[in-house]
Amino acid sequence: MINSDPILSAAIEIARSAGKILLKGFRSSSQEVSYKSRTDLVTNFDIESEKFIVGEISKRFPKHSIVAEEGSDKSGQEEFRWYIDPLDATNNFAHGIPFFCVSIGVFQVDENSMYCGAVYDPVHHEMFHALKDGGARLNDEVIHVSSNGDLGTSLLATGFPYCKDDMERNNLREFNRFLPNVQGVRRLGSAALDLCNLATGRIDGYWEPMLKPWDVAAGSLIVQEAGGVVSKFDGSEFDPEYPEILASNGKLHDTMKSILTQGGSSL
Ligand code: IPD
Ligand code: CA
Ligand code: CA
Repeated sequence: MINSDPILSAAIEIARSAGKILLKGFRSSSQEVSYKSRTDLVTNFDIESEKFIVGEISKRFPKHSIVAEEGSDKSGQEEFRWYIDPLDATNNFAHGIPFFCVSIGVFQVDENSMYCGAVYDPVHHEMFHALKDGGARLNDEVIHVSSNGDLGTSLLATGFPYCKDDMERNNLREFNRFLPNVQGVRRLGSAALDLCNLATGRIDGYWEPMLKPWDVAAGSLIVQEAGGVVSKFDGSEFDPEYPEILASNGKLHDTMKSILTQGGSSL
């Protein structure tokens, strides 16, 4: 079984329990919203979920290091680094839109690659997970990317950065280049679930600038293990610490790369 791996099993179990914490707070009067900046929200459930996740990892793997969105980072001596997004799509969550998740990715420092990842959507009871070289699954089913090689009939997803002040990096130039050439572009509000939707073949490609490692760590491996490709916009090697991702079913990768790099990279 793919999840007989102790680290992946723990990631799955912890993501599922954190998802239950989020469901408790969703559309509830106990939800409190505050602002990290004018456009960047955080709720008490982002914090509660992160506290739970970091506590569980520290108990089970005291020597692993942790990088978590809301700041409870921890350095460790062992080769595994956990990237935690305790609530991906806080804006959806805070506005009562039922599309958000918990994302937990584990990076293996010695191998310089993702080791495993779990992304849990508690509203739809969807647990996406992958282990390096072990394939990707949605709940217990093996998943695969789509086989569409035609950009004109493709459905893509993207996102726009929280920071609205930098017109050079707001993704509108790239969005405008794609729009006339595709069937549609979705902006669903969760980078981690965009990647999982790609891994299941629901969409064919995804790109986004200005991301953080916890947004893409788990989802990038889930896409690769489902047969897809992830890279920087120019096609070079994916790095979870580098703030952009181009992900596709593989068949569309070169075409998407050409569109993204027309006139130079956005970064
Ligand atoms: C955000 C979501 C969104 C993406 C933003 C992310 P958060 O994460 O993934 O889809 O467009 O760039 O910051 O802040 O809701 O965890
Ligand atoms: Ca996020
Ligand atoms: Ca988040």
